[in-house]
Parts: sequence; C-alpha cells; structure tokens
Amino acid sequence: MPHLTGLRVTHSAIHGYGVITTRRFAKGELVLEGDGVLYREDDEFDDTYALVLPGWGADGGDDPDAPSVYYDLIDQTRWINHSCDPNTEIDSRYDHERGALRAWWVATRDLEVGEELTYDYAFVGALAQPCACGAPTCRGLIVDDDPEELAAVPEELRGHLRVAAGRAA
Ligand SMILES: C[S@@+](CC[C@H](N)C(=O)[O-])C[C@H]1O[C@@H](n2cnc3c(N)ncnc32)[C@H](O)[C@@H]1O
Ligand SMILES: [Zn+2]
Repeated sequence: MPHLTGLRVTHSAIHGYGVITTRRFAKGELVLEGDGVLYREDDEFDDTYALVLPGWGADGGDDPDAPSVYYDLIDQTRWINHSCDPNTEIDSRYDHERGALRAWWVATRDLEVGEELTYDYAFVGALAQPCACGAPTCRGLIVDDDPEELAAVPEELRGHLRVAAGRAA
C-alpha cells in the first residue's frame, strides 16, 4: 500500500479516523489517488468503505443504464470522511484497456496544514446517515442534495434534515 505523501491518517473531529494534510495543497491540485477492489451491485461485501460508481455495461462500455459498481477502497483513502461543504472532489475513470479503475481526489480550495480532507459522499436517500460534518451548510444527513434523493430519505431520519425535502412520489 503506497504511503500518502503530505497526508496522515489520525483521529477525526468528524467521525472515527480521518485524513489530515501535513503540507499545503493548492486549489485544483491532485491530492491523492485511491486503490480499491471492484464489486458488482449484487455481490455480497461490506460496503462501508466503498465508492458507488456508475456501471459500464456488460461489454465494458459506458452504458448509462448499466448497474452501479462498487470500488472498495483498500488504502488510506478509505478513512476520508464526508462533509456537506467538502474541500476535495472525487473523480474516476475506468481504463478499459487495463481493465482497472482509477479514482482520485482534487482540492476544491487551498488547503492549510492540519486540515481534514473531506468529499461529498452524496448517498442516495435510502442510505442516508446523520451527518456530523459541522459545516454551516450541513444538510443534517449524509445524502445527495438532489430533490429526488432528499424525498427518498426514510421517515425516521427526516427530523435530521436541515434542507427542505419533498415527499417521495
Ligand atoms: C469511509 S468511512 C470513513 C472513515 C471513518 N471515519 C472511520 O473511522 O471508519 C465512512 C463512514 O464514516 C462515517 N462518517 C463519515 N463522514 C461522516 C460525517 N460527516 N458524519 C458522520 N459520520 C461520518 C460514517 O459512519 C460512514 O459510513
Ligand atoms: Zn454535513
């Protein structure tokens, strides 16, 4: 497992362990790449540390209706917490020739030493969890801010929401 340059895994003010910076990063800079193992939507595995990504279809093509794939993070990137006002953005590409996925995080603003790295997990409504990110714009739940997903938040979690959510159709 490659060591994270300029980053350290430690106790987090948000939840459990998190990843903090040990050097400054500039807005737009590549902060780190993640390594993981791919699972299909119907595979059985612990998805706590997995990214949910769009599928690529049976032939490996970019079929928008293909089932999601899960990228179970196996390096230190698995400790990056969620924020509703994140300081990194994740991107991913499937390299069809190599048959491998690349996932990477880019700084969305200048980062000072000691800042905790975060990105927006944007969970679907059905999988929403209470959020402790502490941002003034916290949505109250770890959930995608798409109105359809907000409307799909289970009844028992709706009291946590700090943004308007319609009713599921
Ligand atoms: C990929 S892990 C992140 C590492 C985690 N802090 C740990 O120590 O295991 C994702 C889990 O961390 C927790 N988590 C991450 N961000 C959070 C947040 N903003 N508020 C509350 N819990 C959070 C949730 O339990 C989530 O399912
Ligand atoms: Zn939040």
